[in-house]
Amino acid sequence: MNGTSDGLYLLHLSLHGLLRGTSPELGRDPDTGGQITYVLELVRALGRSPRVARVDLVTRLVEDTAAGPDYAVPLEPLGEKARIVRLPFGPKRYLRKELLWPHLPALVDRCVEHLRAQERLPHLIHTHYADAGYVGVRLSQLLGIPLVHTGHSLGRTKRSRYLAAGRAEASLERPFRFSQRIPAEEEVLENARLVLASTRQEVDEQWGAYENFRPGRFAVVPPGVDTSRFSPPSPFRARTSFPEVDRWLREPYRPLILAISRPSPKKNLPALVEAFGRDPRLRETANLAIFAGVREDVAQSDEEAKAVYTDLLLAADRHDLWGSIALPKKHSPEEVPDLYRLAARRRGVFVNAALIEPFGLTLLEAAASGLPVIATEDGGPRDILANCRNGLLVDPLDLNALSRALVESLGDAARWSIWSRNGLRRVRDTYSWDGHVSRYLALCERLLRRERKALRRRHAALRATPLAHLADAAHLLVTDIDDTLIGDADSLERLLEWRRARAGRVAFGVATGRSFRRTLEILETWGVPIPDVLVTSVGTEIRFAPELRLDRAWEGHIRHGWRRDEVVRALAGAMGLRKQPEENDGPYKASWDVVPGRHVDLAAIQRFLRARGLAARLVFSQGKFLDVLPVRASKGLAVRFLALRLGLPLESFLVAGDSGNDLEMLVGDTRAVVVGNHKPELEELRGREGVYFATAPYAGGILEGIAHYSFATEAPC
Ligand code: GLC
Ligand code: MG
Repeated sequence: MNGTSDGLYLLHLSLHGLLRGTSPELGRDPDTGGQITYVLELVRALGRSPRVARVDLVTRLVEDTAAGPDYAVPLEPLGEKARIVRLPFGPKRYLRKELLWPHLPALVDRCVEHLRAQERLPHLIHTHYADAGYVGVRLSQLLGIPLVHTGHSLGRTKRSRYLAAGRAEASLERPFRFSQRIPAEEEVLENARLVLASTRQEVDEQWGAYENFRPGRFAVVPPGVDTSRFSPPSPFRARTSFPEVDRWLREPYRPLILAISRPSPKKNLPALVEAFGRDPRLRETANLAIFAGVREDVAQSDEEAKAVYTDLLLAADRHDLWGSIALPKKHSPEEVPDLYRLAARRRGVFVNAALIEPFGLTLLEAAASGLPVIATEDGGPRDILANCRNGLLVDPLDLNALSRALVESLGDAARWSIWSRNGLRRVRDTYSWDGHVSRYLALCERLLRRERKALRRRHAALRATPLAHLADAAHLLVTDIDDTLIGDADSLERLLEWRRARAGRVAFGVATGRSFRRTLEILETWGVPIPDVLVTSVGTEIRFAPELRLDRAWEGHIRHGWRRDEVVRALAGAMGLRKQPEENDGPYKASWDVVPGRHVDLAAIQRFLRARGLAARLVFSQGKFLDVLPVRASKGLAVRFLALRLGLPLESFLVAGDSGNDLEMLVGDTRAVVVGNHKPELEELRGREGVYFATAPYAGGILEGIAHYSFATEAPC
């Protein structure tokens, strides 16, 4: 890893929907839409840049006959330097995005495995949407690679829209999983070095509603439009008629007012028919064509779409527009560029009168086709029209204003030509993917310049030579101490016996909330020989036998952003918390006891620290212990560091625990065991893939888990 001199290696993550490079199936389901186009175009354009050495776009591998075989292919090239990498996680079948949450920890580990197999680590991780953000935060914390994020759409915005429309809060959880999504977005804001937005409004009004909003981390870089697909009419692209449209029209060659959108009430399509129908000048000199998704049978459509189609048909009928309105039943994505060109050739106009429009990619497609636009006066259109100067903004609720804008835009031929030319030129300047990529790379390079040394050090640490005496170990058993390893002398003795029989082949580690000194004491008390690996103070310290020296690479990695003294000062005197004795603490851990009977609000403590500019991870155990750690440290992250350090896949780890500080060590690709005597706080893991709930308590539970997984039973090789 030598800085950025030989080109950037970028890791993008976009997890939901059906993603493929050749003819992406846009609109096939609600998760396969704009984000898919955006990510594919961005990754392709990055792959074309000479400043980029390689781009991997990680998505979910889906083995589902209903989805088709393309989504089960592990690698798909997107040009010479870019490719799709499909990693399996969760069940094989296709899942809508809201159902991916419990499976994301497994993907973190699949990504670690993927990266372990590459000859170098990426310079940047760029995540798209909250689900990928969740994974990216963990990868970034573990590997120390800076995180860049694009939201695409935001949970808080969506939630408040539903609440404003009168939906009950409780009814939103099942369909949308806001309780997962919004905290994941908050966490992304806390960890990302750069957040990209498409418009100023997205930053101010949408991200601005988040607790961790810090304006300095944002950059507005609007997406590009594919100008090789969307281009003005020319003699070579001479589709002059369109039977699907023209069979509806008495005089097809009149100026064509065009709208293309999903059949969603938000898109406000019936208002356009109304505005068209109420002005005789429009009815007599122009035509209107509305492409609203695909309708087979209106009666069979879903409720929202049915309402839209019904309103459209009724409005057309009310004004008797038959002969000057086209409402085609379907169109394919391949036809869309021709539709814009048709309207441009007929000197028409594109209309997007949606009630709200955060971005409005269709406006750019129209502009790139030389077709002027009329659009809602809202976030995206406001930015686009200010840049492109190719049409008019209107209040989507004011039908007279919409009629007037249509009359005006079609009535002045000279101005129409100026708008058409402006759109073409300015889209090239401002909204091309190549332009997007050069601004994007400039931002990334600036960020990396500041990080270069730190990155080099971290990557070197992870690649440090494996520890010689552990070189033969093919498995690692990592167990919590109190109430997991110890508590029952008989089963402990049986476990130690199991271990002795496999010495060398199975390495043995502990991961505990205790300090190093107290760990040695308790192990001695219970007659446990010194383990090969000691993870102490809740994952903040790692030591390897026999020297038991502090691993400096881990220390150097986790110290990032940690201000222990300030944390301790800030929480001194906090209600309901009592400081634990100094000897329990470590340089990277500070702990409190919760005063019996008092409730602690972790979110409030987190907010309180954040408001003082203090980044920390809070770990709550047994209803009474609160540990405050650097964000990059935890038992789970320490285990993943060990996997990299020892060169072992996470599947070869067995992890065991009983309480809250074990929680995130127990999810992911490792084989996890929750012992029979666990605390209620681990119940939430029941039913998770790769988490076994033993019935036997203490070390007996570990042995039960070993048998359950047939852990380390294969013949030595
Ligand atoms: C151990 C530590 C204590 C910590 C607790 C939970 O008991 O001694 O400091 O709070 O584990 O992690
Ligand atoms: Mg314990």
